[in-house]
Amino acid sequence: MNLHRTGSAIALVFVALGSPLLAQSQDPAARAAATEAAMTDEERVVITNGVMPLPFLPGVKVPEGAVPGAGFVPGIPRLGIPNLTETDASLGVSYVMGLRGPEGATALPSGTAMGSTWNVELMRRGGAMIGSEARAKGFNVLLAGGVNLMRDPRNGRTFEYLGEDPLHSGLLGGAAIAGIQSNHIISTVKHFALNGQETARNFVNSKITDANARESDLLAFKIAIERGQPGSVMCAYNRVNDAQACGNDYLLNQVLKRDWGYKGFVMSDWGAVHGLDFALKGLDQQSGAQLDPKVFFGKDLLEAAARDPAYRERMRDMNRRILYAIYAANLDKHPVSPGGAIDRKANADIAEEVARQGIVLLRNRGNALPLAATVKRIAVIGGYADTGVLSGAGSSQVHGDGGAAATVSLGGTGPFAALISEQYHRSTPPLDAIKARARDAKVTFRTGAYITDAVASASKADVAIVFANQWQTEGLDQPDLSLPRGQDALIAAVAAANPNTIVVLQTGSAVAMPWLEQTAAVVEAWYPGVRGGEAIAAVLFGETNPSGRLPITFPASIADLPRPKLDGSDTIEPDFQGRAGAELGLEADYDIEGSDLGYRWNARTGRKALFPFGHGLSYTSFESSGLKVAGMKASFTVTNTGQREGATVAQLYMVATPGGPQQRLAGFRKVSLKPGESRKVALEIEPRIVAEWENGGWSIAGGEYRFALGDDAENLGQPVTVKLPARRWAK
Ligand code: BGC
Repeated sequence: MNLHRTGSAIALVFVALGSPLLAQSQDPAARAAATEAAMTDEERVVITNGVMPLPFLPGVKVPEGAVPGAGFVPGIPRLGIPNLTETDASLGVSYVMGLRGPEGATALPSGTAMGSTWNVELMRRGGAMIGSEARAKGFNVLLAGGVNLMRDPRNGRTFEYLGEDPLHSGLLGGAAIAGIQSNHIISTVKHFALNGQETARNFVNSKITDANARESDLLAFKIAIERGQPGSVMCAYNRVNDAQACGNDYLLNQVLKRDWGYKGFVMSDWGAVHGLDFALKGLDQQSGAQLDPKVFFGKDLLEAAARDPAYRERMRDMNRRILYAIYAANLDKHPVSPGGAIDRKANADIAEEVARQGIVLLRNRGNALPLAATVKRIAVIGGYADTGVLSGAGSSQVHGDGGAAATVSLGGTGPFAALISEQYHRSTPPLDAIKARARDAKVTFRTGAYITDAVASASKADVAIVFANQWQTEGLDQPDLSLPRGQDALIAAVAAANPNTIVVLQTGSAVAMPWLEQTAAVVEAWYPGVRGGEAIAAVLFGETNPSGRLPITFPASIADLPRPKLDGSDTIEPDFQGRAGAELGLEADYDIEGSDLGYRWNARTGRKALFPFGHGLSYTSFESSGLKVAGMKASFTVTNTGQREGATVAQLYMVATPGGPQQRLAGFRKVSLKPGESRKVALEIEPRIVAEWENGGWSIAGGEYRFALGDDAENLGQPVTVKLPARRWAK
């Protein structure tokens, strides 16, 4: 045993003898301090770096105890420190190209679909479900909790995130994290921070003032951390105000650790560490280190610690923080059980519930939906609706047993090619789910490859249902908001041939709809997960009354976005690794919109959306009335005024401050009601939504504020005025 430079031989003896004092202590900070004090210096650079245990990567030998997945950090058996076995991610346990064998996992719908549920409790259940599967597959760290806000709908990872509003993303993301960690595993929250696009993701420099960042993206992280208490924060690939996010003193040391008092550890994104000095800037663990130029947080860190007290203190703090997260989740007391039982049916039921609550009915002319049981001929067209449902690609790719139902190659031949292909889940295909609900109808299918053929089929039918897909992946952005492969033209032609055309979209993000006025109905199904086909058909036939509400703005046009040209899109070759274009010094000026993303940008600049944030139709109708605001408490009554049971999302917006008009979502609640039923809803207004970040703290100016209930961000009820006293607080 090497006691050299341990600092506390007594603590080592305690740990070695299993001191009753320390064993009794449940305080993770005290346990972490004791274990760290007992480490040799060589041991202090063990849990500070990890590998990507994928056998096909050059120079990688999968270490003993590792499960093929995103990451592995060896433990220290002498001190009872468990291995960290890491997998992606927020939508379920990732499939890693089938490397663990044909056994899959339960695929939740995409992040945008989850965001559309606006259902905090359902998010917690979804998180608990994927966390339990992670455990049963031998993982104790889930790289989940993506809460980056959508600053641009063309961001290729929009499908992984929850939306564009800090309160909404923070509350939903925090609930998912809490659910995951209820399994005694660690969840991350990621990607910290301001990781708004994939183009040149390793280098693009997000420029933003402290105030704008604190009121937007950082607020989403802060709320998610408060609600979810994630053991780890994953820093991002990009730069923020000139420094790489994983080597960013402002983000990691100042905001996260000093201002917010965060006690867990910061792990890097994979391939995001550029130097040893990132340790001094607040990074605690180097993930998938073989993707970086060097293993910085191993021997190099040890050597630096031997000569420089700043590195030495950091090295010790890094260990304490990682141990804190391990002990807070009790990883050592509840070892994961590879091969554990998974209740696939119960888990798929949760995924289906998320899909049913996340599907958004965008348009319903003359109550074209739900489809009548008497409909005789249905022409289903396009979108691989005969095969399965679309999923998003990249590290978050999840699959059921046996992998994808269909794969369209898009990523060439590199080692990660299989991760960037267009893949369809083995859900009941929407076509079959439709047939099962329309037993007396003749249901036909056309691929949509030929417009003439699709039009011929549609013109013979009572109803045409066109499935149209926008595929997204980590690593690449969309160049515009069109539906790829000529699907816009297909929809326009079918709608011209049949006025009862219903469009079912499976998109990761917002898209343009040049054909909108010609259609009878539009259903946004996002990437609907393992039971997506069932959920889509359930909405089409009214078995499920749609209750999803948009968590992002669908802009009327690209010209309406704060940056009509996506930064770098004209100069940088698409590159999954995001390494191209380092020399171009690309900047994304996020101060254009500042903290006013999406609907807030539209409100500030007087723009109207194609479909606003918060929008979603139902087969029943609702009314909200009697809004009262007293201090930071709001109350009102929601009534189901229609004929069917259904759920709505009560949305409370701040619409003016003493300084003038200003729109921000201040609170929300999903409410389920029987026909004719009324419910009184009480909401706490989030003070940081009302406040501004000024001179290093939150500040509410004394004076009159106005709040209104909204069907969505643009259709607002009568505002009420409340006088709030001036208030100022730090952090
Ligand atoms: C992604 C992370 C992911 C990691 C490990 C990275 O490329 O940005 O979200 O957790 O890979 O797979």
